[in-house]
This record gives sequence, C-alpha cells and structure tokens, in this order.
Amino acid sequence: MPGALSVRIREACDRFQALYGSAPRVLARAPARVELLGNHTDYNGGLVMAAAIDRETIIVGGPSPERVARVASAHFDGVDEFGLGAIEAGPRSSWTTYVRGVCWAMAATCGGFEGGFNAFVIGDVPLGAGLSSSASLQSALGAFLLSLGVIRPPAGDEYPGLRTDAGRFALARVLNRSENEFVGVGSGLLDQVSCLFGRKDHAVYLDCSTYETRRIPLGEVALVVCDSRTSRRLADGMYDIRRGECEAGLDRLRQLTGRGAERLSEFRLEELSAHREEPETARWKRARHVLSENDRVQRGAHALEAGDLATFGRLMSESHASSREDFENSSQALDLLIESARESPGFIGGKLSGAGWAGCTINLVRADLAEPFAESVKARYNQASGLDPLVHVCRTAEGASAIEL
Ligand code: GLA
Repeated sequence: MPGALSVRIREACDRFQALYGSAPRVLARAPARVELLGNHTDYNGGLVMAAAIDRETIIVGGPSPERVARVASAHFDGVDEFGLGAIEAGPRSSWTTYVRGVCWAMAATCGGFEGGFNAFVIGDVPLGAGLSSSASLQSALGAFLLSLGVIRPPAGDEYPGLRTDAGRFALARVLNRSENEFVGVGSGLLDQVSCLFGRKDHAVYLDCSTYETRRIPLGEVALVVCDSRTSRRLADGMYDIRRGECEAGLDRLRQLTGRGAERLSEFRLEELSAHREEPETARWKRARHVLSENDRVQRGAHALEAGDLATFGRLMSESHASSREDFENSSQALDLLIESARESPGFIGGKLSGAGWAGCTINLVRADLAEPFAESVKARYNQASGLDPLVHVCRTAEGASAIEL
C-alpha cells in the first residue's frame, strides 16, 4: 500500500473510531475520472473514452442496528444523520445530498435497507475541479453499501454488484439515477462508468446507446490534469442550455431526413454535413461537435488498439478545438492551459475534461517527462496570465472496490 494512502486510511479509521466508538468493518474506495475523448456525447447516446485516475475517495464504516445513516467527512464539518426509511434531500447543494441520493436510489432498486450504517469519508480528489469528485464519492459509497451488506440486491445481472461488469453497469445506472432524480443534475453515464470500470494502464470505452463497455490498453503514460482554478459556477445553467441545443439539433435532423431517431448520435457526421445550415446555427454547431466526437472516439479506440498513442493524442487536441469552436464550452483559461501544454516537453495531446467552461484540462504526456511538463505548463501559464494553475500528475487506476477490515 503506498505511504500516503496508508496514512489516509489510518486517519480515516482513527477518526471513525473517535466519532462512533467502534472500529470500522469495511473499507471502500473509488477513483476520480478524466474524460479522454467524447465530450458531451454521453447524454446524446454517443461514444465516450475515459480513464480512472489515482486520486480517490475512501470510505470506512460499519453497520448500526437502527435504520439510520450517520456520515462524516474529513473535508467538511459535522455529521449528517438521516433515516433510511423515507430518505429526504436534506440541505441543498451539500455533499451529503450525494450520499443521501445514493442511499435513496439503492433502496429504490434493491428493496430497502436492512439496518443502518456509520461512515467516514476521506480522499484526495480535488473538489470542484471537474474530476468528478461526486461520481467518485457515489461509486465508493455504492461499493461500501454492497460490501457491508446493509443493502442486498436480488440475484441477477440487472442488479447492482461489484463482481461482474453487468453488476457494475447496473450500479452505474443506479448512481446516475440518484444524480439525475435526487440531486437534480442532468448528467450522463460517463462519470459513474469511468469510476466503476477503470483499470490500471487502460482507458474505458463506453457506447451510451448499446451500453457496451470495453477497457482498452493505454500504456504507461502520464495523465496530467491542469486545473485553471476558475469557478465552475460560471458554468451554472450552461450544461442544460447545451442539452437543449442538442435536442434542437436532433429535432432538425429528424425533420430534414424524415428519420425518427431518438438520440442525436443515431445520425452520422456525413448526414449532418449534407444538411448544412447557412449561416451556421448553434444547434448545427453543437450537433457537429457531438457527431465529430463520436467519430474521434471510434478512431481513438482503433489507434489505441494499434498502440498508436500519437494519433490518439492528436484526436484529443482536435476534440479541444471542436469544443472551442463548435460546442463553445471552453474558456480563455482552458485555451491558455492547452496552448501552454502544447509547447511543453512530452505533450502527446490535450483537451478540456468534463462539462467545460471552467475546471481543468487533461493532457496525455510521456511518463518520463511528466514532471518537466508540469513545471513548464505552470511557468508558461503564469507568464501569460499572472495566475498559478494547479497541476496534478496522475496515473490510470482501478475502478471502485471494497474490502472487509
Ligand atoms: C459532465 C457530466 C458528464 C458528461 C460531461 C461532458 O462531466 O457529468 O455526464 O456529460 O460533463 O462530456
């Protein structure tokens, strides 16, 4: 067990003991994720390529006899206590809304809680940076609840579980449902699938229309996350606006082709090109981004399968250009980070990661040059903007897991 990790686990166990008066029985963990290709494709029924990274959420805990949950975190004050019979939302926009949401969705799918639990959360996923600290928390909690046995799904691949990919996929859908219906965030499946399916030295491929998942070897590259430290509040509302524009693009393509497609990704880029709108409308540009992203994911998967990282990196950089020009979800800070990265040693490719507008970029970097790369990006970005980005040199990591202590 790496030093920093074991220190963190010890701290979590000590703080659990001090809070609840007993030793924890289960330890669960789940990584954060980066989006490598396939930006804003997930809710359009498209293709995604992501990776789990070695920044993670850890949960330690044990059972309690009453059907009550008590949850505390190293990053926030207080203990959230709530009944597991009829789970209520609690204080809005608090981290515990995610915890309650997972409990709610797991109970709704798996038939309710048998007893309750106490838990303590710790981790090193940067919060609010676009690395999906929320899906990491959700996935760790899902793994924790299943392993503790306070929630027992019926047997069958359609129910959440950690032993098979089908069970993991069912868990991802339950976690996504908790985010959509309980937390009220209309995100797609990318985040939860990445946190659950990640594998060391691999990328995770997901087809959001057939639900096919694959792990594709990525090799021992560094994944360098550059956090612009610009507020994600700026992005408030933009995600839903873009979803609406994608819907409008879908409607228009349906009219033009007479095809009753349900998702934008059922159309091909050539079909869109055949119906070019002059001057280019927002809906047309958004659709071009999504359909060209699907294309890039497909080409990226072939490139990785052929061991061609250079092509994969180029596709990532093309993805960023498409975000900047067509989806308009980049920002000055994110563009500057990408420019700084492009001029730094070891750069293979880079793009914004996740929703966009703020947050971070993800860069594929030669492993042996990761540190000089990080230093160079910091210096170049600072020189151009006077600001200091946070740079995290990451490696790929395994998806969520749990063990009994
Ligand atoms: C956010 C959402 C994901 C996905 C990305 C954009 O991270 O949570 O579901 O839509 O944005 O690709």
